[in-house]
Amino acid sequence: MRMKNLETNFSPTQRPRRNRKSEVIRSLVQETRLDITDFIFPLFVIEGSNKKIEVASMPGIYKFSSDLLLEEIASCVKIGLKSFVVFPNISDNLKTPFATESLNFDGLYLKTLIDIKKNFPDVCLMTDVALDPYSSDGHDGLVQNGKILNDETIEILCQMAIAQAKAGADIIGPSDMMDGRVGQIRKALDQNGFTETSIMSYTAKYASAFYGPFRDALDSAPKHGDKKTYQMNPANRKEALWEAELDFKEGADFLMVKPALAYLDIISDLSKSFPIPIAAYNVSGEYAMIKAAAQKGWLDGEKTMLESLLSIKRAGADIILSYFAKEVAELMHKVK
Ligand code: PBG
Repeated sequence: MRMKNLETNFSPTQRPRRNRKSEVIRSLVQETRLDITDFIFPLFVIEGSNKKIEVASMPGIYKFSSDLLLEEIASCVKIGLKSFVVFPNISDNLKTPFATESLNFDGLYLKTLIDIKKNFPDVCLMTDVALDPYSSDGHDGLVQNGKILNDETIEILCQMAIAQAKAGADIIGPSDMMDGRVGQIRKALDQNGFTETSIMSYTAKYASAFYGPFRDALDSAPKHGDKKTYQMNPANRKEALWEAELDFKEGADFLMVKPALAYLDIISDLSKSFPIPIAAYNVSGEYAMIKAAAQKGWLDGEKTMLESLLSIKRAGADIILSYFAKEVAELMHKVK
């Protein structure tokens, strides 16, 4: 094509492209940045010692016995990643309808929390409050005649929260979606002297198919039915504001949206409407999708990871829980 054919008298007055003309200028006008201090890294703990098992549907993510979990935390802390949420993989023979193992101070979970805090007093340790990892029904609440009991479940959740606070948790994370649990957990913590223990409520937790790999990892899928009577309908947006209003009034310190990528509108709504920090959980299935496509050579894994994490932050999340957290920390550490 000859240039002569491309002559024009047109010249727009506004040229947004001027702000994209060099790497330095693009960086000057960049609105959102990922910062490793905004990340919480989910970790899976299993029984035994010297064990490290890769989660089949989450390449690069491992279940660790608590000794190796401590080493994993040490390697994260070294590269600036200092916040963790821990989930236990409980043996089937310890699972009961009342999830009693969750309160056992000689059991896997509480012992591991105590160990982590003893070795790393300065890390931020978040816990999970829900019955499913310990429940023979595989549900987040108590089951009676196929129904999930709300108020009775909360009694157990409160005991779990107190036990985890005793074990040294900095942030309690109720992931169960029972009505009224944030207020009751706040009250239970306060009455037991844990006024400094925070609550990050899984506020808008949707009944999502993106939790599949997590349930594989913990073998925690419901034995019957699904979680639709407590987790939210993916079709609903206004309802998230209702849930958020309740959690905020009941004393949550952070509100979480989960999953993240298919729910950026919800993250945005909550961040505009509430004055407390908003967290987003970039869940197992979101991790698995990018990893699988990258393994096939269909997507650039690193770039799609960074772009999707950035979108979560851009939507309004202050905090991101992500299985990518360590990979991001490694990348940022290398760049420095
Ligand atoms: C259970 C819980 C789930 C996740 C965190 N806590 C799964 C579920 O509700 O079935 C999912 C996390 C993920 O998929 O990464 N209380």
